[in-house]
Amino acid sequence: MTGGLPRRLVLVGFMGSGKSTVGRLLAESLGWRFQDLDQSVEEEVGRSVPTIFAEDGEAFFREVEGRLAESILAGDHVVLAAGGGWAARPGRLPEVPDGTLTVWLQVSPEEAVRRVGATGAARPLLDVPDPLVRARSLMAERRPFYAAAGLTVDTEGLTPIDVSRRILTLMGVAHERTQ
Ligand code: S3P
Repeated sequence: MTGGLPRRLVLVGFMGSGKSTVGRLLAESLGWRFQDLDQSVEEEVGRSVPTIFAEDGEAFFREVEGRLAESILAGDHVVLAAGGGWAARPGRLPEVPDGTLTVWLQVSPEEAVRRVGATGAARPLLDVPDPLVRARSLMAERRPFYAAAGLTVDTEGLTPIDVSRRILTLMGVAHERTQ
C-alpha cells in the first residue's frame, strides 16, 4: 500500500491462523464491515466448503473465491478474512487495489493443526490421514506468497485480542479508544 490510512484490510495466512476471529475484532474496533470469504462463497454457491470441494472440485471453489474477493475489495471500510489459499497465487497480494492493507497472520503448522483439529472435516485440505505432513508442505509452498503482505504478525502465544491490538497499533489507530 502506498501512503495514507488504509480503506480496507485483508487478513491472509494459513488455516487456523485466526483470520476470522481477529477480522471480526478489527472490524468492530474500526467500525468497518466484516466479510469472511469462505462464508461468502458458501452463501453464493449454497453449499458448504467441504461439499463444494467434494462435488465441484477445488478449481471451481478457487474461481468463485477469486471473483467474490475482487468484488468485496471494490468496497471501502471492510475487513476481509480470506481463506488460506486465496493469497497463494502469483500476483494476488501485489495486485490488491490501492488503499488495501494486507496482513499475514503467521502460525506454525503444528499450532495450525492443533487449532483446526476439532474441525478437521471442515477443512478439506487437512482432512487427510496425516494433517501435519500436509500442513508443513502446504505452508512451505505458501510462505513466499503470504510474505508479500504489507504487515506480518506472529500469532504464536497471542490471543485474538492481542493480535487485533497489535495490528491496530501498527496501523496507527489508538485502540485504547476503540477497544
Ligand atoms: C483453504 C482454507 C480454508 C478454506 C478452504 C481452503 C486453504 O479457509 O478456504 O478449506 O486452501 O488453505 P480458512 O483458512 O479460513 O480455514
